[in-house]
Amino acid sequence: MPPSLQKISQSVESRSADEKYADVNWDELGFGVIPTEFMYIMKCSNGGEFSQGHLTPYRNIELSPSAGVLNYGQGLFEGLKAYRTEDDRFLLFRPEENALRMQMGAERMLMPSPSTQQFLDAVKQTVLANKRWIPPLGKGTLYVRPLLIGSGPVLGVAPAAEYTFLVFAAPVGIYHKGPAGLNLYVEDQLHRATPGGTGGVKSITNYSPAYLAQQQARAKGFSDVLFLDSVTGKYIEELTACNIFILKGNVLATPAVHGTILPGITRKSIIAIALDFGYQVEERVIPVEDLLEADEAFCTGTAVVVTPIGAATYQGKRVEYNTGKGTLFHKLRETLTGIQTGRLEDKKGWTMEI
Ligand code: COI
Repeated sequence: MPPSLQKISQSVESRSADEKYADVNWDELGFGVIPTEFMYIMKCSNGGEFSQGHLTPYRNIELSPSAGVLNYGQGLFEGLKAYRTEDDRFLLFRPEENALRMQMGAERMLMPSPSTQQFLDAVKQTVLANKRWIPPLGKGTLYVRPLLIGSGPVLGVAPAAEYTFLVFAAPVGIYHKGPAGLNLYVEDQLHRATPGGTGGVKSITNYSPAYLAQQQARAKGFSDVLFLDSVTGKYIEELTACNIFILKGNVLATPAVHGTILPGITRKSIIAIALDFGYQVEERVIPVEDLLEADEAFCTGTAVVVTPIGAATYQGKRVEYNTGKGTLFHKLRETLTGIQTGRLEDKKGWTMEI
């Protein structure tokens, strides 16, 4: 190991040995950047493979002004969390699914990607190096952000010749602070994704185009935006950063992933848990009218976990949903977070202790 890395790894060990927690006000956690101490970085160039990744102190990175990611948005990200259990063990939730999703996205964006093993090693090293930032149980989680970017210079529109895989982490609490149920605006002018585009992969370019709709909705007092399909404008798709479910009677429905919907790992897990509970689950095209007639609606994602929707407004019509005790979202969230934090038995083998 080079002397610089040896120093880092000694520093990781000595700090983590004598200080259980970093100096963070755990009661004030939201979803923002609280820098941790280390990040992981690995590069790949000229058609080669990723190799020689390592931890390094969390810092700004140097990029050419003509880097592919800066000029043409050639980049993907992932999001997963590390959980502290009651007896101070550390768990990841289905991290291999994130690795596979990054590989799928990399194919679409014509980028090389780290192998599943490289991805998992990088995530584990980053979490363990920053374990003092994993919040106490009940206060939050450590959000882990793997990034894959075209870091080589380009001017003509073409894939970069060099790629950087980077993993950083930040302690987070609740994503949507505020009232218990989201006040949703159904956006019927601006769109998030188009068939044949990149809505179904975690491209960095899928998010900032949603800012305008989000800002306009927030200015009117809404908490988030639900996008409709861009071809007919009749079917619900997803929010700015999460998937949506609606419940009617015993039937739970969520938009089918057919290229414009992100295949969420929380989405997939919630479907499995709801089936175990005996609900009928439908992945299908969902007309906006079904949303307006639902008994319950909620959204899912790594960041939002399972967040209830309190109301939805579409073309001036507002409907409200049940968010009280005995709701399905509540049961699903309890079960999901119970498994994620080791409080409930993980019968499906979803958690990975590190
Ligand atoms: C996640 O849930 O990890 C996401 O990707 C949402 C993020 C854009 C905040």
